[in-house]
Amino acid sequence: MIEQVILTHSILIKVFLGFMAAGLFIPFVTAKNPKGFKKASFIYTMVFQAIASMIAFTGLVALAMGTFGLSLSVIIMIVIWGLLMYIEIKKYKLIKVANLENPQTHTLLRSAFLKISAVQIMLVIMMVVLKVMEVKGVISLS
Ligand code: HEM
Repeated sequence: MIEQVILTHSILIKVFLGFMAAGLFIPFVTAKNPKGFKKASFIYTMVFQAIASMIAFTGLVALAMGTFGLSLSVIIMIVIWGLLMYIEIKKYKLIKVANLENPQTHTLLRSAFLKISAVQIMLVIMMVVLKVMEVKGVISLS
């Protein structure tokens, strides 16, 4: 049972990575379409937060069911999760209130979208690498 919860947690993380990678196309396909950019950002942030919530939920269920306790690796996960959500909400708020009809603002926010997504992807990959290294015994995060 616990194995299934952790497996779901880890599959969701891969889905999350795939979703964020696909999201990198948004600023390009909406380069000449400010309204489309705003709309796509809205859908993106909704899906992002839904997947992130499922990751936190499965993680918390695994914590409640398992005997890991609050290990350093779980604390890092929670911190990264908080950071991901914080950055995402800030980013969407910025896009939501911006006047994207101004071409300079549109360009600036498209580039911010790309950079922020790159940082988010890196944070998730970092966590996955940490876990892989832990499992292989290269580092200990207990
Ligand atoms: C509130 C947020 C989260 C909680 C409570 C949580 C909790 C857990 C727990 C209890 C485990 C299993 C125990 C262990 O291997 O140490 C686990 C595994 C894992 N978590 Fe999380 N997690 C959270 C968020 C995240 C996030 C945001 C990421 C990625 C950035 C992540 C990546 C992983 C990975 C890669 C594993 C190993 C999966 C495997 O063994 O196949 N977790 N998490």
